[in-house]
Amino acid sequence: MRRGEVLGMWKAEFPASNRYYEEEDGILYCGDNVEVLKQFKEESIDLVVTSPPYFLQRWYSAKSEEEFLSMWSFDKFKVFAKELYRVMKQGGVVVWVMGDQTIDGSEVGEPYKQVLYFKEECGFKIWDTMIYKKAGIRYPDKDRYYQIFEFMFVISKGVPKTVHLIQDRINKYVGKKVRDSKRLVNGDVTITKLDKTTDYFGVRHNIWEYKAGYGMGSTDKEAFKHPAVFPEALAKDHIYSWSNEGDIVLDPFSGSGTTLKMSKIMNRGWVGIDIGKEYCDIAIERVKKAENIKKTMLFKV
Ligand SMILES: C[S@@+](CC[C@H](N)C(=O)[O-])C[C@H]1O[C@@H](n2cnc3c(N)ncnc32)[C@H](O)[C@@H]1O
Repeated sequence: MRRGEVLGMWKAEFPASNRYYEEEDGILYCGDNVEVLKQFKEESIDLVVTSPPYFLQRWYSAKSEEEFLSMWSFDKFKVFAKELYRVMKQGGVVVWVMGDQTIDGSEVGEPYKQVLYFKEECGFKIWDTMIYKKAGIRYPDKDRYYQIFEFMFVISKGVPKTVHLIQDRINKYVGKKVRDSKRLVNGDVTITKLDKTTDYFGVRHNIWEYKAGYGMGSTDKEAFKHPAVFPEALAKDHIYSWSNEGDIVLDPFSGSGTTLKMSKIMNRGWVGIDIGKEYCDIAIERVKKAENIKKTMLFKV
């Protein structure tokens, strides 16, 4: 498939208003994601890789808590979640990257509230609760174990239509025939001898470790004018796992544009939404850069 031919055609199906920037294979909207999503046709998105604000941890472009809460709150999330379900294609996947915040000595529990709402009130399946293990950690608390992870909830509208599991874990029992055992409800164990010899590489486990920050998560200096950039490799691995070339990938909290940049490099159509104009400007710089990266790439990502 040649980029620009098939990829560009889908854009006519998306709203023309509020487009802040666009290219042949992508659109960036600057505005409130609930309002923007309401204008999307149903079943128009294949994959979402995103990270919302973590409760009240940062106000982003807002100047006060009150302003932030008009931008993002649990009430707003509820409307957003229903809209998100509506715009996802059957079999589409949403990767919801989220950490918790501790207030008055207790974790708030917002990630659990949100993922259960997605399941119980919207109809998404919780396909996999994955962990993003951060290779570097913040200054540790004195009275708790080091906080070193965030959730990556993989939720889906029905059974995921595209799954490419990454197989890059060196198997412990390479070349051997292994046994599979299963404990039944009555406590007995059944053992099946597998005929297949174990391959050199096995499928990854669902805890993924990445380095974050400048020079590690991305080498785009301008990205870090945004306070919460996730690693490019995290976006790349999820885009690879749950979509195909030519699919439409959305980030409704696109921030510095990490998902948009990686989608472009990987020949997906991309749609971003962010309420902060200053963040949209960073995202534009980064997707423009992706053009050169594509040209100089020796291998497909
Ligand atoms: C955790 S950051 C996303 C960072 C992004 N993953 C990256 O790598 O740069 C969350 C983003 O959500 C945006 N945001 C918050 N409320 C929003 C809303 N109602 N509509 C659109 N964007 C919103 C903020 O401006 C912020 O950039």
